[in-house]
Amino acid sequence: MSTYRFPPDFVWGAATAAYQIEGAWDEDGKGESIWDRFCHTPGNIADGATGDVACDHYHRYREDIALTRRLGLRAYRFSTSWPRVLPAGRGPVNDRGLDFYDRLVDELAAADIEPFVTLYHWDLPQSLQDEGGWTRRETCGAFADYAARMVRRLGDRVRYWTTFNEPKVVMLNGHLTGGHPPGLRDPQAADLVGHHLLVAHGLAVQAIRATGPGLQVGIVLDQHGAQPATDSAQDAAAAERAWLEETFFLDPLLKAAYASGAWERMQKIGPAVRQGDLDLASQRLDFLGLNFYFRHLVGAQGYVARVTGAEYTEMEWEVHPPGLRLLLAKLKGEYKLPPVYITENGAAFHDVVAADGAIHDERRLDYLRQHLIQTWLAMQDGVEVRGYFVWSLLDNFEWTHGYAKRFGIVRVDYATGERKIKDSGLWYGRVIASNEVSES
Ligand code: FCB
Repeated sequence: MSTYRFPPDFVWGAATAAYQIEGAWDEDGKGESIWDRFCHTPGNIADGATGDVACDHYHRYREDIALTRRLGLRAYRFSTSWPRVLPAGRGPVNDRGLDFYDRLVDELAAADIEPFVTLYHWDLPQSLQDEGGWTRRETCGAFADYAARMVRRLGDRVRYWTTFNEPKVVMLNGHLTGGHPPGLRDPQAADLVGHHLLVAHGLAVQAIRATGPGLQVGIVLDQHGAQPATDSAQDAAAAERAWLEETFFLDPLLKAAYASGAWERMQKIGPAVRQGDLDLASQRLDFLGLNFYFRHLVGAQGYVARVTGAEYTEMEWEVHPPGLRLLLAKLKGEYKLPPVYITENGAAFHDVVAADGAIHDERRLDYLRQHLIQTWLAMQDGVEVRGYFVWSLLDNFEWTHGYAKRFGIVRVDYATGERKIKDSGLWYGRVIASNEVSES
């Protein structure tokens, strides 16, 4: 039996996001977010679910931090809700909202757990959306101001800051396919938004550094790596084209340039792309966060939706752990990479509470194990991976899927709010304690 030993300072964590767990959607002066509005509009979410209460983390955060401590986590990645802190997106701070994050960070400090804060995990203040949201350049400046205010208050205790979580999802799901708020289906708007997210990132990085010198600043991208379905030249070419699509954010961030196809599209949005924008977008990154769930397999006919014989999660995502190592190798080959954290990785499976009250979630446990082994192998390949965060600490509101998809290593009973560590969580705790993963 092989065991894979991680470096002593490897950062073991778990991740969540504000809208998915906090609840308290209109409490203590919080403003409305685009996800509040979207979920309150009938027909958008499976079962009409909303994040109004979610895991009630806003009230139960002490219990949740106690859980992270029981698991032995070294780090906890969470996002802050912009409209909780700035109800109108700009202007006066809502002190009670900001106090919540202050207490949360104090609680983490007392538990000796390193906070990794994400400033934007999709919940734009609705009032900024009413002015045009990310299609307006003004939103970029408002985001940088919000970032500076967060750093001013929390920067003495929070060292790790990320600007955006998965900007590609904001750009495409929000503005091209319309499945997420604000629900636009407009290719040019999507490109404009993509560009503005890069500008907003750059401005926020500058604002964070100006407010809190010495802080670690990064961004979190979702990547899949485009693998050819067969050895044929056509599939290789198709995979290369698919990869170019995946570099929409990577290239400006790490090369100060748009990839060729993206650059041509950018010409069409005209004056929105200003001189100096790409220098702004390519501020030095202290780290890159990568969210990896499944690979993209590409053939001449397009993305392969179903691989015969492969395992799929409840999200219909293929389980293919070697894809993570291949992605990391690809990134290392193509870019001058900053240190990497796997900021999300995990799986939704149908969980059953057994007669003994336990949750024997073997498939999730194995998913995590196999991806950690691939992470370890990538580190042997020379990729500097500094840490790994399981998605997610808790079962939570999985966006348009509502509560049906459970990703947690801790089960949440939504009727009572009760939390229970699943077998995968108990196993993860042992991994952290021993700093090693074994094959079985
Ligand atoms: C990622 C999101 C995260 C969660 C997982 C399953 O794309 O960042 O909030 O929904 O997927």
